[in-house]
Amino acid sequence: MVKRAAFPFLVKIEKSLIPGSPLINYVLLTTELLYRFQTYYFLGIDARPYTFSYSELRTATDDFSPSNKLGEGGFGPVYKGTLIDGRVIAVKQLSVASQQGNIQFVTEIATISSVQHRNLVKLYGCCTEGGKRLLVYEYLENGSLDHALFEQRSLNLDWSTRFDICMGIARGIAYLHEESRLRIVHRDVKASNILLDSDFIPKISDFGLAKLYDDKKTHLSTRVAGTYGYLAPEYAMRGHLTEKVDVFSFGVVALELVSGRPNADSSLEEEKLYLLEWAWHLHENERDIQLVDSKLSEYSEEEVKRVIGVGLLCSQASPMLRPSMSRVVAMLSGDAEVSTITSRPGYLSDWKFDDKTSFMSDIETEGIDTRPYNFTESTSMFDDSQPSPVLATVPMLQDSSIRE
Ligand SMILES: Nc1ncnc2c1ncn2[C@@H]1O[C@H](COP(=O)(O)OP(=O)(O)OP(=O)(O)O)[C@@H](O)[C@H]1O
Ligand SMILES: [Mg+2]
Repeated sequence: MVKRAAFPFLVKIEKSLIPGSPLINYVLLTTELLYRFQTYYFLGIDARPYTFSYSELRTATDDFSPSNKLGEGGFGPVYKGTLIDGRVIAVKQLSVASQQGNIQFVTEIATISSVQHRNLVKLYGCCTEGGKRLLVYEYLENGSLDHALFEQRSLNLDWSTRFDICMGIARGIAYLHEESRLRIVHRDVKASNILLDSDFIPKISDFGLAKLYDDKKTHLSTRVAGTYGYLAPEYAMRGHLTEKVDVFSFGVVALELVSGRPNADSSLEEEKLYLLEWAWHLHENERDIQLVDSKLSEYSEEEVKRVIGVGLLCSQASPMLRPSMSRVVAMLSGDAEVSTITSRPGYLSDWKFDDKTSFMSDIETEGIDTRPYNFTESTSMFDDSQPSPVLATVPMLQDSSIRE
């Protein structure tokens, strides 16, 4: 006799059977078994991620109390909570509707949960009760890298911590791209998607999430998901999506780690406004070291130069000139030479925002935000409420049908 306790899904199937309807039950049962066979044997993953009940998550977060709110990104708010078993969690309420149906959504979550690495945030499971979409992650005590680096400066990340963070992020992305069973392009690598545990070990969050909103399997996506300042030019302009998009964003994060400033900062002088532009300017004048955060009293000059060199290589205009992430890991650890680059990317030398002959000077600009960038908000572009593409919160998922 089959021991049901050993096969929890049998108990779940049993619960969904309809009493007195043998034909419907037969169809339900065969569909479920076929589906499980297909996903388990062909994809090698358990078809069902752990599913939480809504009331379980409500209790854990104290009814999604505002005092437990950790923040809100492009997908929806995130709450801190504690499960009955004592695990501390972060619950993300997806407010942007996905076009995926329940089964597809749950399969995607199962896929994401099966991807595990020391430098990736653990996804404990999800909740889909009553059409709701919630994701349950492990809670990371030291929050996100952008807070640690740009806001909560009391954390005082010293150089060796920053270097280890940089290595950890590189290893996490290399795993996603090259080692995991399911190759994943993150599409939204940025400082706020790097979370830090109690030992400051970096964990990449939100990987696989953009896929929930992707309806195309080809590299040419109709929608761009990402954040201004971290977006590779070929992806922003043409939606051309390859793993080199993440390599570009990683390059920006690496330079942010060295400089302790966000990729764009309107409070700085014009020449320093854009981090990539400033880094290139210093590099061309052999003054790379001046990029180092003034808060860092001690650092290894050699390591700093390596990180800057890698950052500049990764942010090359041509995806082909950017290294793979495993090569980045080798270069950072000193196992491979950091190739020298001599020419600044075209997107920097060609984009002159101070061109006074621009047509914008001739038209009525009242009511239009002409700031080059929204520096404080850097959420993903999944919302279409912004008026101008110069804002960081502009939608990159433009299909209005995906919004609730
Ligand atoms: N697992 C977690 N542990 C601790 N804090 C978290 C966790 N997940 C998210 N947070 C916090 O919640 C905030 C919001 O996260 P969220 O991912 O929604 O936004 P984001 O990363 O700024 O933008 P995006 O939607 O593009 O990812 C983060 O800045 C982070 O501080
Ligand atoms: Mg995030």
